[in-house]
Amino acid sequence: MVEDLLIETKALSKSYGPHVALDALDLSVPYGATGLLGPNGAGKSTFLKTILGLIQATSGEGEVLGHDIRTEGEAIRSRIGYMPEYDALNPNMDAIHQVRYSGELLGMNPTVALSRAHQSLEYVGLGEQRYREVGSFSTGMKQATKLACALIHDPDLIIADEPSNGLDSSAREFMLTTLETTIRSGQRSVLMASHLMEDVERVCENIVLLHKGHLAAQGRIEDLKAIDKEVEVHVWGHATEFENDLSSSGMRVRREGRVMRIRHDGEETYDAILSAANRSGTQIRRMHDHEASLEDLFLVIMERLGYEIKGSDDLFAEGIV
Ligand SMILES: Nc1ncnc2c1ncn2[C@@H]1O[C@H](COP(=O)(O)OP(=O)(O)O)[C@@H](O)[C@H]1O
Ligand SMILES: [Mg+2]
Repeated sequence: MVEDLLIETKALSKSYGPHVALDALDLSVPYGATGLLGPNGAGKSTFLKTILGLIQATSGEGEVLGHDIRTEGEAIRSRIGYMPEYDALNPNMDAIHQVRYSGELLGMNPTVALSRAHQSLEYVGLGEQRYREVGSFSTGMKQATKLACALIHDPDLIIADEPSNGLDSSAREFMLTTLETTIRSGQRSVLMASHLMEDVERVCENIVLLHKGHLAAQGRIEDLKAIDKEVEVHVWGHATEFENDLSSSGMRVRREGRVMRIRHDGEETYDAILSAANRSGTQIRRMHDHEASLEDLFLVIMERLGYEIKGSDDLFAEGIV
């Protein structure tokens, strides 16, 4: 397998009894920040647990940081900080001992683990609350404690399963900024499962999109967006004639009042738009390339795969399509 990939899998599958949760995934994840996206039940958490060696793949193979996921789970976990999706904290333990314990579980010497626990809690903004029982914490503080546990051994890769789930906007802001700083300052990588596209767009440069256990898309967000580049045109007068002219010339138009978004099909797109405006007698007030959001990109990918999804609310609703 290729040396310079963070994660690589070949035909990786995982079934729970008859239910196929991951179906022959061929993934190549580079070093850096990657968002793992997909509707509920897509297989995100299963994928993370499989590459951590916490659950066994049914078939196929994979490597994380050059280690085999089937046989080197312990080596993988010693280099990864994992923030699980669900609350894995002991409510009756204070934060400092909770974080220290997670270091001891990784084989750290208790004194080293304790001093690292102080640093980690300080880093995630819980320096003052470190002697409080975790059970009394807000969701944001619990998430921050989980992050401190994940950082205790200064890992090369952080795997965070829905890190901002259930957080209010200030806690979410803090979590995302802390993750960003952790990645940038330590040259660490992150693999972050999330159903919040804005979070992924902010923190990550790559995505892996899963849908019902299948790989729907993977790559750099920037490259993936290029498949759906659009030109935005603001017009005045004869908008319907203009729209019809463009459509009958075979161009894809999405219209909202006097603003049209037209699929960019190479450099001749601009000339074609100007000619259509001439023919229909409309006046072009503004024309510029439109930067697609990650959500736009998803809708296009899902449409191409033949799923009827109209918005990210649909995309992340339980049990769709
Ligand atoms: N321990 C389990 N036993 C049986 N089925 C499971 C188990 N964990 C997950 N599943 C099923 O596998 C699929 C993928 O689940 P999961 O990996 O949790 O998805 P996601 O994290 O994307 O929401 C779902 O259909 C889920 O119901
Ligand atoms: Mg999950």
